[in-house]
Amino acid sequence: MNREVIQSWIDEAIDKAGFDEPLYSAVKYVFSCGGKRLRPIMFLHAYMLGGKQISEEIKSFAVAIECLHQYTLVHDDLPCMDNDDLRRGKPTCHKMFGEANALLVGDALLNLAFTLMLKAATVHPMAAKAAYEFSCLTGGAGVIGGQANELNTLDFRANVEDIYSKKTSYLIWASVLSGAVLAGLSQKQINGLKEYCFNFGFAFQVYDDLMDIEEKGGVTEKSYVGCFGVEKAVEQVKECTQKAIDALVMSDIKDTFFIELALAAAGRKE
Ligand code: IPE
Ligand code: IPE
Ligand code: MG
Repeated sequence: MNREVIQSWIDEAIDKAGFDEPLYSAVKYVFSCGGKRLRPIMFLHAYMLGGKQISEEIKSFAVAIECLHQYTLVHDDLPCMDNDDLRRGKPTCHKMFGEANALLVGDALLNLAFTLMLKAATVHPMAAKAAYEFSCLTGGAGVIGGQANELNTLDFRANVEDIYSKKTSYLIWASVLSGAVLAGLSQKQINGLKEYCFNFGFAFQVYDDLMDIEEKGGVTEKSYVGCFGVEKAVEQVKECTQKAIDALVMSDIKDTFFIELALAAAGRKE
């Protein structure tokens, strides 16, 4: 499943969501500024491991996952958070539409994510369970908790694993777990995918720190690279990528997609 197909599902869902101006344009703007659509792609691949067809409910779930991801980024960029003017080289949502509108774009996307999941749950027998798991992993004890811990910690270095795991790996795992639950994968496969996602997520976030050196012109103190240096970060990306791949092999997941993805993520491009 490629980015363009997922983008067409997103466009359709946003057009149907009933947002008034300027919320509608601001949300459309967020989705028009690039992005890999990595999490819905991973969700769909986990789902397809079960050999099932992609139904309308599965499409809704994929869109919901990307809505939640984009909400985290819009809020993450706000002046009260990372205060970033650019995302993927383009002005951030608050730079284009103002801070209050960007806050509301994030709120609307978070809410739309669960509207879409709950709508799917009225039809698909496993969608309520998948949505429940997804909500637990992305809330205050997961992604939001990771962002909060990063903001408030007095010792980032000692807490970096907890913070990266929650703010990054939990959403990746939430996406893959949703696909696994909807497809009815075996416990052995789910365990393997979990181990994969946590290692993949850590490597992904550390690699993001390494890319930030070029993109943002320096190292931030609250980052793995800032705490441990470039050499150790590069080593960590390699090590976690290998652990991610080993976890798949151990759990009889034959699909090469996740292996190729882990290898590509450590040198990723748009
Ligand atoms: C960005 O994620 C946030 C991190 C967890 C580092 P992505 O790199 O997947 O974001 P897109 O592709 O720009 O949406
Ligand atoms: C973003 O983390 C993670 C979430 C929004 C949950 P970062 O702040 O490290 O990522 P970028 O560099 O802004 O994409
Ligand atoms: Mg940021």
